[in-house]
Amino acid sequence: MNFGCKNFPGVGKKIDMETTALTLLIISSSSFLVASLALYPAAMPSTTSLENTTFAFPVFDSNDRRLYLRGNATVLNPVVQLTTALQGDNITYVVGRAMYYQPVRLRDAATGTTADFTTRFTFSIDSQKKTWHGDGLVFFLVPQGSEEIPRNSEGGLLGLVSNGTQRDNSSTFIAVEIDTFYDVSTNYWDPQCVHLGIDLNSLNSTKTACADWMDDEIRNGGRVNASISYDSSTRSLVATLQSADHTSSQGYYARVQHEVNLAEFLPENVSIGFSATTGMLFEFHTLYSWEWISSLPVLDTSSPVSMAPTPSVDDLPNGPSTAGADAGERGKKGEDRKDTKVENTDNWLLGVSRT
Ligand SMILES: *[C@@H]1O[C@H](CO)[C@@H](O)[C@H](O)[C@H]1NC(C)=O
Ligand SMILES: *[C@@H]1O[C@H](CO)[C@@H](O)[C@H](O)[C@H]1NC(C)=O
Ligand SMILES: *[C@@H]1O[C@H](CO)[C@@H](O)[C@H](O)[C@H]1NC(C)=O
Ligand SMILES: *[C@@H]1O[C@H](CO)[C@@H](O)[C@H](O)[C@H]1NC(C)=O
Ligand SMILES: *[C@@H]1O[C@H](CO)[C@@H](O)[C@H](O)[C@H]1NC(C)=O
Ligand SMILES: *[C@@H]1O[C@H](CO)[C@@H](O)[C@H](O)[C@H]1NC(C)=O
Ligand SMILES: *[C@@H]1O[C@H](CO)[C@@H](O)[C@H](O)[C@H]1NC(C)=O
Ligand SMILES: *[C@@H]1O[C@H](CO)[C@@H](O)[C@H](O)[C@H]1NC(C)=O
Repeated sequence: MNFGCKNFPGVGKKIDMETTALTLLIISSSSFLVASLALYPAAMPSTTSLENTTFAFPVFDSNDRRLYLRGNATVLNPVVQLTTALQGDNITYVVGRAMYYQPVRLRDAATGTTADFTTRFTFSIDSQKKTWHGDGLVFFLVPQGSEEIPRNSEGGLLGLVSNGTQRDNSSTFIAVEIDTFYDVSTNYWDPQCVHLGIDLNSLNSTKTACADWMDDEIRNGGRVNASISYDSSTRSLVATLQSADHTSSQGYYARVQHEVNLAEFLPENVSIGFSATTGMLFEFHTLYSWEWISSLPVLDTSSPVSMAPTPSVDDLPNGPSTAGADAGERGKKGEDRKDTKVENTDNWLLGVSRT
């Protein structure tokens, strides 16, 4: 996750040490020394700083306006039911999305940089003991402006792509799917197992990994922890699943990795969140917590800043539960306005009502 600091162009500049020493001798003031040294970085033309976006939902609250819901998704404190259905409802052919209420900046066109990011969430998929169930849950990144659920995207289309319509902007996405329905006659592109997959503009996953242990979790509604990270220096996108309740066992784990240049798929600003669907078959899709951190190197011409270390998965608290409910702005209390964009930009979605 190295952003590669820009070298200060002024570093190699010759400094007349004799003159400096002489000046210091004459003035003999330590405060002047501090002032003099501070002038050197200030004279440099530009450097980069990190623009961080962080937020956390340790739990979900229906009054929390940072979550943007579409379709059949509902907050039922303290969780999000993505395919809402009370027992006894007709819960087939349901689709729901839950997204962060602001776009996230993933690229800086001026410098050509791409953000690193890590997101973690805990979810369950519950078939209420049924062996056959569907269809799955995805975490997606879509171009800003593509928040609406595509028409006819229930069932195996996972709320991401329209069935039978022309490809539009809503079919531009990078997604990680947790696909729970596999039947060779209908979803012929799928591996024949509950699986984790990386999807690039297509539900025909670029990479997949079977997670057979998920069958048990789904029958019993067991919680699963997911982690998705992107390292812009290696262009590595990694997604993992780990049973939340089986800490010691290696068996309850799945991982996919793919090298991808986000810039080839996504614009500068993206909307991020989840979608889930049912088709002919039923299952609950429940989100318990979600957190996100991304760091984008941006040109900073105003004031000198020291290069902050790049984020890593280890920098995140161990799970969303350790983050404050106030969330939002972990780790960006600096004075530099360029380092923050969380919470104080326009709420771009509040004007839009739910359907
Ligand atoms: C899902 O949403 C659609 C459209 O808003 C609505 O017609 C349908 O009744 C909802 N289904 C359930 C089970 O709530
Ligand atoms: C449930 O919904 C499906 C699809 O909309 C419909 O075909 C079916 O008749 C409904 N079943 C009940 C019991 O309402
Ligand atoms: C797409 O629509 C066709 C025709 O309505 C239907 O037969 C097919 O099952 C749909 N595919 C999916 C994946 O929903
Ligand atoms: C697709 O995105 C482009 C560029 O962002 C925009 O000009 C165009 O209007 C969009 N098309 C649709 C159908 O949303
Ligand atoms: C899925 O994508 C692979 C390449 O990634 C391709 O070989 C295969 O034909 C595709 N399958 C379908 C059903 O589109
Ligand atoms: C992306 O969002 C930033 C604000 O975070 C804005 O300055 C920039 O113009 C946006 N880029 C595009 C291509 O809309
Ligand atoms: C799963 O996530 C929860 C909440 O963040 C955490 O308490 C738990 O330790 C995690 N379980 C595993 C196996 O990592
Ligand atoms: C941005 O995030 C990184 C990694 O978490 C952190 O080291 C750095 O201090 C943050 N920058 C600011 C300005 O908060």
